[in-house]
Amino acid sequence: MARSETVFVCQECGWQASRWQGQCAQCHTWNSLVEEPLAGPSVVAKKVNSTISSLTLPEVERLSRSFSRFSSGYDELDRVLGGNDKDVGIVRGAVLLVSGEPGIGKSTLLTQIGLKTVMGTKDTQKQAVIAYLCGEENPEQILLRINRLQAFEAKENSKQKKTDPSWHFFTTQSIDKALVALSKLQPDLVIVDSVQSFRSEELTGAAGSVGQVRAVTSVVTQWAKEHTTPVFIVGHVTKDGGIAGPKVLEHIVDVVIEISGERTSDLRLVRTYKNRFGATDEVGVFRMMEQGFVEVSNPTDVLVQQGTSGTPGSVLAGILEGTRPLLIELQALVVRSNLAMPRRVGRGVGLSRIQVLAAVLEKHCKLQVSQYDVFLSVAGGIVVHEPAIDLGFAVAIASSLANKPVPRSYAFIGEVGLLGEVRSVPYADSRARSAQRLGVEKIFSHQSHKTVAAVLQELGIR
Ligand code: TYD
Ligand code: MG
Repeated sequence: MARSETVFVCQECGWQASRWQGQCAQCHTWNSLVEEPLAGPSVVAKKVNSTISSLTLPEVERLSRSFSRFSSGYDELDRVLGGNDKDVGIVRGAVLLVSGEPGIGKSTLLTQIGLKTVMGTKDTQKQAVIAYLCGEENPEQILLRINRLQAFEAKENSKQKKTDPSWHFFTTQSIDKALVALSKLQPDLVIVDSVQSFRSEELTGAAGSVGQVRAVTSVVTQWAKEHTTPVFIVGHVTKDGGIAGPKVLEHIVDVVIEISGERTSDLRLVRTYKNRFGATDEVGVFRMMEQGFVEVSNPTDVLVQQGTSGTPGSVLAGILEGTRPLLIELQALVVRSNLAMPRRVGRGVGLSRIQVLAAVLEKHCKLQVSQYDVFLSVAGGIVVHEPAIDLGFAVAIASSLANKPVPRSYAFIGEVGLLGEVRSVPYADSRARSAQRLGVEKIFSHQSHKTVAAVLQELGIR
């Protein structure tokens, strides 16, 4: 009997080798290569002959012909998904991968989208048919969540007459069987929760392996295009932030949605980092509450605490999340250190940034930061990567050190250079305008001050 063709696939990055080796040559992970059957001509031929005759290649023009969208029910999410003024939201036939850490709320958000889905127009409203492929939880668990969320939804929109969707659960682990059943059901929306818990009968590997995850995603994608039905696929992420197993998954799907947030905070940011139907620079802001995801249309209410005004070490800064300017609160606590190497601790901000700011304040503003422990945090539990918060943090450190508060009517926008200079940041005007809309009277930035020392002098905290 001829030996079946196999290939060794790295479970981290998807790199393939013809024979086993200890280390992946692409991502250098050790012991990550697993033998998988090669999806060669034999598999394709089998597929053509198989009973799943609908699993043929998708017709490209068919998608473009019926390229239309419907609302996810959430303005915050629709904006992230893109579209023009009249037509925003979920594209029919799109495959959307929803990624995020376990427990962040992927199943919750998809359940809520299902509940909000309304097919037809206002006058010709018809019941939406939702297919839920449950690989992770059993249908009873999901139904419990649906009923609970539906009760909240009904209370909120008691005046609106809305047809509740009909839910259909699929408990098989085989994606091929599920798709055959889906073709019969003709649902309006499909939820696959999660891709790691399904397997394709074409391959022998266990559910969750790179080969399986890829196979499951590609058959689901073919099905979605063929039936012009949108499919949400849940994908877990690993500790270091990659979608568990293969990066290859991202290439197959149309949209990659990421839900992020701190476990300790109820704030959830939803953004796309791949979107074939729109820009990837928008962010939707939600809070995880008892009633599930709740839209936050004015994030500053969450990101700026009311009680901290007038406390030394608290300042406002204008940041950009995607293309959206946000006003956030930065906090610093500076206390005398009894360590030879004082502590530098940050939450929502990188350590090297704190060290640079401390050194700049020491050298160019003559503040004795080196004898103090510095703790910095971004209120609300978000993580900020852009350097535009430098100036805010520098002022917060100085304010805490001098024990002098900074007025709440001031906001700070600017990167701080190694020479103590305030640098310009992209979209400074839109950040400033948004801060002013929220009641900020004076903006400190590259335009108003050339150095950090000058900013501190004007504030009287130097
Ligand atoms: P879940 O959607 O199950 O997360 P994931 O699918 O990403 O693993 O949500 C998990 C958490 O969300 C759970 O710890 C409880 C919380 N939660 C709420 O706070 N409110 C709710 O209405 C629901 C359904 C969940
Ligand atoms: Mg889940």
